[in-house]
Amino acid sequence: MRALLTSKWTKVAVFLICLLPLGALVWRGFHHGLGANPVEFIQLTTGEWTLRFLVFTLCITPFRKLLSLPDLIRYRRMLGLFAFSYLSIHFLTYLFLDQSFDFAEISKDIAKRPFITAGFLGFLLLLPMAITSSAGWIRRLGGKRWQRIHRGIYLAAICGVIHYYWKVKSDVRMPLFYGAVVAILLLWRLGDWFFRRRAMAGAKLSPQHAPANPSS
Ligand code: HEM
Repeated sequence: MRALLTSKWTKVAVFLICLLPLGALVWRGFHHGLGANPVEFIQLTTGEWTLRFLVFTLCITPFRKLLSLPDLIRYRRMLGLFAFSYLSIHFLTYLFLDQSFDFAEISKDIAKRPFITAGFLGFLLLLPMAITSSAGWIRRLGGKRWQRIHRGIYLAAICGVIHYYWKVKSDVRMPLFYGAVVAILLLWRLGDWFFRRRAMAGAKLSPQHAPANPSS
């Protein structure tokens, strides 16, 4: 398994698979397959893929630990950047095809429609993560600060779920499904953090780490 996960070709294959939804959209575009409302079709498709890629990215750490596959980490940045790429197409479709770059209208829309506000918040949270995703930025910011920024992915995913829930109004099964998945992943992360902290505190109190007692 290790050889598979560390192979350059697996990474290339995963990259190509991640491009498939975009490829399907472009293919449909050239074959009149975008339905009666192409703008809506592009927005719904790219919105769903943004959420899916956010979930895939959030799954990497639990899968790495639960399945003892540390090399899965090699795919986290790529998946996160694909989430942001699909979100960028989603957002650009809204800015250009939906609102014709009318920034006065766009700011009014963001302030007025709660589902747009939630989506925009998700975008604002993911933007610094996409910018600082390179190794150079980890060095520049330092591991702790970099991690703090990148923990925002949980909040971004929550914003995405709320955005989806408020958008669909009637049939809320899919947003609730994504909400449940994000909640499980977040709870797992909190549990992992809690048990690691407890283990560290225990290690500090163990006799071999205890300060030497001069009176003994
Ligand atoms: C983390 C960020 C975001 C995620 C995960 C996300 C996800 C989604 C999803 C899943 C849908 C489909 C809803 C459905 O099936 O009815 C959707 C629709 C939509 N999103 Fe987003 N979105 C995000 C950010 C944004 C932003 C920044 C904007 C624009 C400011 C936006 C504008 C829209 C619009 C206008 C629709 C409705 C499309 C239509 O019905 O024609 N979204 N989004």
